[in-house]
Amino acid sequence: MLLNLAGQRKVLFLGGKGGVGKTVTASAVALHQAEAGRKVLLVSTDPAHNLGHLWEQSVGDDQVELFRSGDGVVHGVEIDPQRTIDAYLAEVGVTLRDFMPEHLHPQVDQHLKLAAQTPGTHESAMLERMAATIEYGLDEHDFLIFDTAPSGHTARLMALPEIMTFWTEGLLNRALPV
Ligand SMILES: Nc1ncnc2c1ncn2[C@@H]1O[C@H](COP(=O)(O)OP(=O)(O)OP(=O)(O)O)[C@@H](O)[C@H]1O
Ligand SMILES: [Mg+2]
Repeated sequence: MLLNLAGQRKVLFLGGKGGVGKTVTASAVALHQAEAGRKVLLVSTDPAHNLGHLWEQSVGDDQVELFRSGDGVVHGVEIDPQRTIDAYLAEVGVTLRDFMPEHLHPQVDQHLKLAAQTPGTHESAMLERMAATIEYGLDEHDFLIFDTAPSGHTARLMALPEIMTFWTEGLLNRALPV
């Protein structure tokens, strides 16, 4: 059933409680799809990665080839949370500095340093990285499969856009009274 579903999808997320078999199942589905000739990107969003362990090779933040047969291929990525947060804050920094006069730039840097430790930053950075992975991953692959972190962690991540929308709308309503 899962294999049939995977054949009809471009993106699949595997979620569930800790230790139920997400990583093993995601890897098996990725392998099956590659054997059927698809170009697969297998992405671990769990900070406690174990794709590398399972595939018996080193996997990291830059994609590596895990399997190839004919046209089919599996590339693997274990998203590095720290690298993702650093890249995300660097990007936010460029935008903020554009908005601020030059004498306030050191304060922007100080703010971003603090933001790196703020609750929610990890999730925001991760979500943006996942969105980018879906957007650009499909240029090169036919199928993206996400091996996610245990459900509580992933549920918080998935709820973030809704929470952020509520928060941003509240802020905008205060800034722009109608
Ligand atoms: N279908 C299965 N039958 C028997 N054992 C399995 C099966 N799937 C996974 N396992 C075993 O269960 C254990 C946990 O599997 P896995 O690492 O895939 O779970 P997980 O959901 O990714 O865990 P975590 O939440 O810690 O990331 C492993 O030891 C694995 O070998
Ligand atoms: Mg796992």
